[in-house]
Amino acid sequence: MIKIGVIGYGYWGPNIVRNFSVHDEAAVHYISDSNPQSLDRARKAYPHIRITKDCCDVLNATDIDVVAVITPVSTHYDLAKRALLNGKHVFVEKPFTATVAQAEELIEIAERKRLTIMVDHTFIFTGAVRKIKRLIEEKALGDLYYYDSVRVNLGLFQSDVNVIWDLAPHDFSVMDFLVNEKPSAVAACGKAHVNGLEDTAYITVHFDNNMIAHFNVNWLSPVKVRTTLIGGEKKMLVWNDLEADEKIRIYDKGVEVTNQESSYNLRVSYRTGDMYAPKVDQVEALRNETEYFLSCVTKGERPENDGLAGLRVVRLLDACNKSMKQNGKAVNL
Ligand SMILES: NC(=O)c1ccc[n+]([C@@H]2O[C@H](COP(=O)([O-])OP(=O)(O)OC[C@H]3O[C@@H](n4cnc5c(N)ncnc54)[C@H](O)[C@@H]3O)[C@@H](O)[C@H]2O)c1
Repeated sequence: MIKIGVIGYGYWGPNIVRNFSVHDEAAVHYISDSNPQSLDRARKAYPHIRITKDCCDVLNATDIDVVAVITPVSTHYDLAKRALLNGKHVFVEKPFTATVAQAEELIEIAERKRLTIMVDHTFIFTGAVRKIKRLIEEKALGDLYYYDSVRVNLGLFQSDVNVIWDLAPHDFSVMDFLVNEKPSAVAACGKAHVNGLEDTAYITVHFDNNMIAHFNVNWLSPVKVRTTLIGGEKKMLVWNDLEADEKIRIYDKGVEVTNQESSYNLRVSYRTGDMYAPKVDQVEALRNETEYFLSCVTKGERPENDGLAGLRVVRLLDACNKSMKQNGKAVNL
């Protein structure tokens, strides 16, 4: 039985407690939150779990194996470090840390103490992303040309990070999981209209090959959009995460050059074939992810979304901030 202490029971924490609680091989022993209202909610939902205001009760507990850090980004490093130093495996929210150096240090401690770090890159455990991964691996799309993502809605404004650090970790972690190429540079532009932190941003990620990626993240959109287009040489794909049934649509559309004698005479023909929507597994991503975490801890295996995956995302986020400070100049990775 893997015993878990959860720190942070705000918006996301209840989902973590609920999902760890369904597995037979795990039990949540502690929930900690510094906010009394959150503690009241936890007490009502889980009368049998020890509830505490002081996170030290969790970090120093001798009867738990895992600490789940579900608090704001600015606190991840300190809480995760104390947990690791006390010999606990760590499940930590995205983004992993607030700086590259912090992520590197946590990875080093975990390696030294042979402990598992899993960063909650929830979307890579969705049926849709798993299906897209298979399609890319099978070369169904051919060589990838572009990755284009829009993740916009109204709020939730965060007090410690800008919209890129809040929303783009989802997209960066998905791209990192799906695309084999390593990004070479990042250019980002953003504007702050409300609380001094950028709430609207456009990010371009460059690769050494011919692929390009673009991300639009925004807390000031009147409508919620969660759409990613992935264009390949053979086929193109649209992933609309807000669709209930047909989350992924694959289009047999493309362009072929039919005459290459000169650029003036260049002729392209357009291929417009069928569209199909493959079946996508509907199991809650966090259910899959928490199960995988427990399996990695039990077997001592390194998760796909380990500290290094978290670090790759933090490097991209850090490069975005550097680029925004230089008015969108590309920052090499
Ligand atoms: N994976 C996802 O899809 C997803 C979704 C939402 C949020 N998140 C992440 O989850 C984390 C928390 O986000 P949220 O929206 O739940 O924030 P939140 O502000 O709603 O909740 C955070 C909670 O942590 C508590 N807290 C802060 N410091 C603490 C400490 N030292 N000890 C005990 N409690 C402490 C606060 O009182 C608060 O209740 C963030 O890193 C966020 O990026 C991930």
